[in-house]
Amino acid sequence: SGIYEYINVTKTGSNGSVGLIQLNRPKALNALCNGLVNEVGQALDILEADSSVGAIVITGSEKAFAAGADIKEMANKTYSETYSENFTQNWARVSTVRKPVLAAVNGFALGGGCELAMMCDIIYAGETAKFGQPEILLGVLPGVGGTQRLTRAIGKSKAMEIVLTGNQVPAQEAEKMGLVSKIFPVDQLVNETVKIAEKIASNSQLANAAAKECVNVAFETTLTEGLHFEKRMFHGCFATKDQKEGMAAFIEKRKANFTNE
Ligand code: CAA
Repeated sequence: SGIYEYINVTKTGSNGSVGLIQLNRPKALNALCNGLVNEVGQALDILEADSSVGAIVITGSEKAFAAGADIKEMANKTYSETYSENFTQNWARVSTVRKPVLAAVNGFALGGGCELAMMCDIIYAGETAKFGQPEILLGVLPGVGGTQRLTRAIGKSKAMEIVLTGNQVPAQEAEKMGLVSKIFPVDQLVNETVKIAEKIASNSQLANAAAKECVNVAFETTLTEGLHFEKRMFHGCFATKDQKEGMAAFIEKRKANFTNE
């Protein structure tokens, strides 16, 4: 973890099966500067390649998951700079991870912070978490998925309200909307999220990745095509040793021992 300036990376859970990325730029409430986002990408590359890791948790501090893109870093950018560097392209790494990624959100998840959480597969929140897309108040708009992933997650009227008012949404409301899956007490959030990640990590990694791919296809295609894709992926599971092991373990009334083959 010593190679990073803005994040801490550890392996936790049984046999180090959970990769934990903690955003650690406290003086700026984890504002997502270019260096921080690049480090998250590097950490994800390493955790993705580590076969002992079955799931990944991204968290911040109790005060802030992340207060958005770094306003000071981008304030003076010109259009031609943002366009030629394809500004925020490096954020996409989070959404291409094949292992399950869980966000554990305490405190502020605003702007790019909310967008980063939405790139994860499941969002858990602490009781005092606050979500929002305040970009409109800065004279811009959410530029890393806030108008797209939020709309798909909670529908048009709620998404429009959040994007156009810039208001903060408390965790309890975010849970009702379906943005957040569960709420935990602030001091237990990370432990509880790691426990769930540990459970997910004990599945077949092949089945996890295939299931994740199938759910994500639901956002990209028609129902008929999605069901077709799902069925073929289901059929594909029967080519794995993990399918044989999982079903044999059920029949033999024992715990499955998946080998990701
Ligand atoms: N960028 C850069 N610095 C930030 C920051 C951000 N997004 N958010 C907070 N900081 C810095 C503050 O400037 C401050 O630094 P100094 O001590 O040097 O002044 C420090 O973090 C602490 O912040 P505050 O003093 O403001 O803390 P607070 O508790 O009073 O308020 C807050 C907390 C409501 C989250 C407030 O900091 C805030 O409104 N932050 C900005 C939120 C925002 O607008 N986010 C959207 C960014 S745009 C974006 O994300 C675009 C995109 O889609 C990619």
